Amino acid sequence: MDKLVIQGGLPLQGSVQISGAKNAALPIMAACLAIPGKTLLRSIPELRDITSMTGLLAQLGMSVSQGKAGEWLLESTDSQHSVADYELVRKMRASVCVLGPLLASRGEACVSLPGGCNIGHRPIDLHLKGLAALGAEIEIQSGYVIAKAAKLKGARIFLGGAMGSTVTGTCNIMSAAVLASGTTVIESAACEPEVVDLGNFLQACGAKIEGLGTPCITIDGVDNLSPTEYEIIPDRIEAATWIIAAAITRGDVTLENVVPEHLSAFLDKLTSLGVHCQVGTDSIRVSGVKKILAGDIVSLAYPGIPTDTQAQLTALLCLADGTSIVTDRVFPERFMYASELVRMGAKIRREANSVIIQGVNKLSGANVMASDLRASAALVIAALAAEGETTIRRIYHLDRGYENLTGKLTALGANVQRVSESSRKTTHSIPQPHWQQALLAKTPLDN
Ligand code: EPZ
Repeated sequence: MDKLVIQGGLPLQGSVQISGAKNAALPIMAACLAIPGKTLLRSIPELRDITSMTGLLAQLGMSVSQGKAGEWLLESTDSQHSVADYELVRKMRASVCVLGPLLASRGEACVSLPGGCNIGHRPIDLHLKGLAALGAEIEIQSGYVIAKAAKLKGARIFLGGAMGSTVTGTCNIMSAAVLASGTTVIESAACEPEVVDLGNFLQACGAKIEGLGTPCITIDGVDNLSPTEYEIIPDRIEAATWIIAAAITRGDVTLENVVPEHLSAFLDKLTSLGVHCQVGTDSIRVSGVKKILAGDIVSLAYPGIPTDTQAQLTALLCLADGTSIVTDRVFPERFMYASELVRMGAKIRREANSVIIQGVNKLSGANVMASDLRASAALVIAALAAEGETTIRRIYHLDRGYENLTGKLTALGANVQRVSESSRKTTHSIPQPHWQQALLAKTPLDN
């Protein structure tokens, strides 16, 4: 396993290209199970989760090949294999997105229930409710969802749960309903840009969908879909992460290849925290941050402040002038990273589904442990601003969602080294995470 060693205190300077969105790419790749012929996807980021998804799709009888950087060619060649086994699904919850496309195109699916998660309880009851409403027979056996449907039938489905809408749940139901007979109406649908991107992709393949980006999506089923070429949207969460990193280091950074309107609530909140961004058509510049102001943050479903930026915002508020409260209404338990920030000198305490942050003048480098993808990003942000050296372990979490993180940060002037757990020298001149070598060598990944 590798770790990151970061010497803090350097302002980030320069420009950074935002990669394609992981959370748009994953359901779109899964949807290709239901599309005959060769589909070409562009701007697919090079991430551990993408590698997990390509491994799963290959297990499900798809031919998956990589072309130029960011390009993947997918074709469903053998529809006999419809089992997504525990070993793969446990590594990535988004594997559940294969359920809808498998049911719609093959009439059956056997998918392991996703495992536990460090950000809180993550059931899939709404996914199963929606598929059952479309006529699927569903049973749970030995930790697997076994679903069958000769032909799905359109239905009106209320997909809201106790915590509001479901992103991958909406993706699953939409990917199934496009091939159902008749009309499906999804009420309390998720509005996230990644869901819209899946819908736009399916429309490009011939699906009939109205209401994308609203809580009510209407789908008229078609007999079959056709292959297409499609470019994935930029990753708004990666963009938010670099914006905060630039602000906390008092740097001057321009982000290229962004969709600013995907970050409206986030940018609005940042303004109230003293971080003013210059917003272009497809770029955002962060510069001239003097003082970070305290504030209260509540993360919500889109178009609210994304829960996937909550940890990074908390890291920023550790150095704010005053006391802040951060509440997560989507994943109330998503604060495992707080104790690691406290190791760096932050003053944070948990209160139910919030953290209370008393701003301090400085953070100090320390040994810390990543617990999940966005928590790791929060630790990187804190380390960039801290005095001294920080070592972050279990950075395989970062490899899941940040393409070429070390390279991008180094190019912005950060002092970041990716080293093996056992030694301090840099193990890679260009980050070639060990999991890629392990996958290529077909040896079991550590998890
Ligand atoms: C997606 O997860 C994202 N992952 C998450 O990003 C993101 O945090 C989340 O949406 C919220 O925006 C992908 O898109 C691959 P949900 P998802 O279903 O779909 C509850 C990252 O860091 N719920 O929208 O799994 C659930 O417990 C990841 O990139 C049910 O109760 O999230 C949660 O409280 C982390 N029953 C809320 O709804 C269900 O059947 C929202 O979950 C499904 C969800």
